[in-house]
Amino acid sequence: MNNKQRVARHALQWITDNMIIGLGTGSTADCFIEALAHKYKQENVHIHVVASSIVSMIKARDLGLPLVSLEQLEHIDIYVDGADEVAPDNTLLKGQGADLVREKLLATASHQFIALVDQSKQVPSIGNKFPIPIEVMPFAWQMVKYQLEKQGAKGKLRQQGNGLAVSSYGSLILDMKFPEQVDLQKIEHILNTTPGIIEHGIFSPQADIVVLATENGVQEIQKPS
Ligand code: A5P
Repeated sequence: MNNKQRVARHALQWITDNMIIGLGTGSTADCFIEALAHKYKQENVHIHVVASSIVSMIKARDLGLPLVSLEQLEHIDIYVDGADEVAPDNTLLKGQGADLVREKLLATASHQFIALVDQSKQVPSIGNKFPIPIEVMPFAWQMVKYQLEKQGAKGKLRQQGNGLAVSSYGSLILDMKFPEQVDLQKIEHILNTTPGIIEHGIFSPQADIVVLATENGVQEIQKPS
């Protein structure tokens, strides 16, 4: 069993009867979907799932998990997803998979948000390894980029193959790095108030529990109270 499978299996302990479970996107979320489908079949647990992306929806459907659509829901019981970076206070950076909008909607709508990572995802502060993924309205990308550059950020539209990366909603992704002296709260404020930005990859409020794979086993890190 690899680290992703180990943390995915660990997260099954929080799954109980009658839950609505949000499924993340990415290779770790895939391991959780597989583990959950196994539990669903073996234990006949009564659950419903809602997916954060088309790719996770297809995987859940193919594995026989009972899906509900996001439009039908006001809130969910638990959301389980991977992350690209995890700070010591459980703030996350997500979005390398480019499906930020549903991911953040589900994480925010969930009673409990579980992030599954290994030690390679731990950072002293958000933005340490990756630029911040920012989903933008396609016609607004140049204006958004200019506004962010005025705040010292640098970056570019994400490429995929010979073209541009496009989210599930047909939006473009700007990957932007801010100068070190701009603190995270200021960056969030800029991103939350710049017109043309649909969503960004800084996830705060943080994960309630980060499940961390280490050489010595799996560790749970609770959100600071
Ligand atoms: C998807 O948009 C992302 O937020 C992923 O959750 C994140 O990139 C982690 O992916 P892996 O589990 O594949 O590392």
